[in-house]
Amino acid sequence: MFDQLKAQPQDKILQLIAMFRDDPRTTKIDLGVGVYKDATGLTPVMRAVKAAEKKLWETETTKTYTGLAGEPAYNAALSAMILGDAVPTDRLASIATPGGTGAIRQALELIRLATPTATVWISNPTWPNHPSIIKFLGMNMAEYRYFDAATRGVDFVGLMEDLAKVKSGDVVLLHGCCHNPTGANLDGAQWDQVITLLAQRGAIPLVDLAYQGFGDGLTEDAAATRKIAAAFPEVLIAASCSKNFGIYRERTGILIGIGAAAGKGVLQGNLNFLNRQNFSFPPDHGARLVTMILEDAALKADWMAELEEVRLNMLTLRQSLADELRKATNSDRFDFVASHRGMFSRLGLTEAQVNTLREDHAIYMVGDSRINIAGLNARTVPILAAAIAQVAG
Ligand code: LMR
Repeated sequence: MFDQLKAQPQDKILQLIAMFRDDPRTTKIDLGVGVYKDATGLTPVMRAVKAAEKKLWETETTKTYTGLAGEPAYNAALSAMILGDAVPTDRLASIATPGGTGAIRQALELIRLATPTATVWISNPTWPNHPSIIKFLGMNMAEYRYFDAATRGVDFVGLMEDLAKVKSGDVVLLHGCCHNPTGANLDGAQWDQVITLLAQRGAIPLVDLAYQGFGDGLTEDAAATRKIAAAFPEVLIAASCSKNFGIYRERTGILIGIGAAAGKGVLQGNLNFLNRQNFSFPPDHGARLVTMILEDAALKADWMAELEEVRLNMLTLRQSLADELRKATNSDRFDFVASHRGMFSRLGLTEAQVNTLREDHAIYMVGDSRINIAGLNARTVPILAAAIAQVAG
């Protein structure tokens, strides 16, 4: 049987992790996978997470199964953090999932269960795992233009032209904030236009919200998702706690389905069914920590303060990289780095230039020239700027 298997394409982001690990050069700089690092290169356990873990260890009396949809308190607390009061809770169904990827996978499985022929529209470019999972599930896929290679901003005209072709019942995957891989985002007025157009077309939005709190702030980063949630009869939201709570390996995510209150029971039943088919009960440890933090005023305040430090640190790094690139290239070509938001920026370098940066300078970024801003620090910003000026200046 196993001899029938074909080799699978390597995930480019994960491949880069291995290449970096195997590089013996001590000067190497990792700007690959989207993991936050502090100035010392460490991905810290956040203070509130540590405190919640200690309390959990002291008070937890059982490890028996949790609910099939996750603990109701987790689903309620995280849904409230994402949606505020944008939608009445009698329209919400939800399941806890293994990370944001698990939520995306369950969302796509739900769509396939309901409308197997629906087309899922993804931005070009998007996180490589989006098209990979859609193809794996045998679903129809289409792309809408997103990135303007000249300005490194959003190609808004192209995006609107393409989304005007969406058919009623099609699903449109949108990055709620902090677009991955580009770092270029819609402003509020542009979101309003996208929402009006997609509502006219009868589209169903699927929002991927993996970086809430990493862009303009915890509430600000949820603004587009909240508008979408309030504007459409049916919406899916896949959210991750990996980055904003720093609990990557705990696999903590949620899929929220918003529909008519009358259909809530059937929608919830289908979400539960999908969890049962795929893994039964969702992981609990990370979800429980998130619940403890969101339900405890002091822990929540401390978590929000640390998240804000993380966000501001990335903004400072963005500004200093833009400044250093101005000096090194004697031009304003890279000023966009300061106005991008989230962990990532697509620099607009060629694959050959990306390879030269890796081979000659031990600087690792994804092949499309996506850098993880949080992989930098005050020491490495000028090194990166000088190397970019050398290969692309
Ligand atoms: C990334 O894009 O680097 C992150 O979302 C991590 C991953 O799983 O790819």
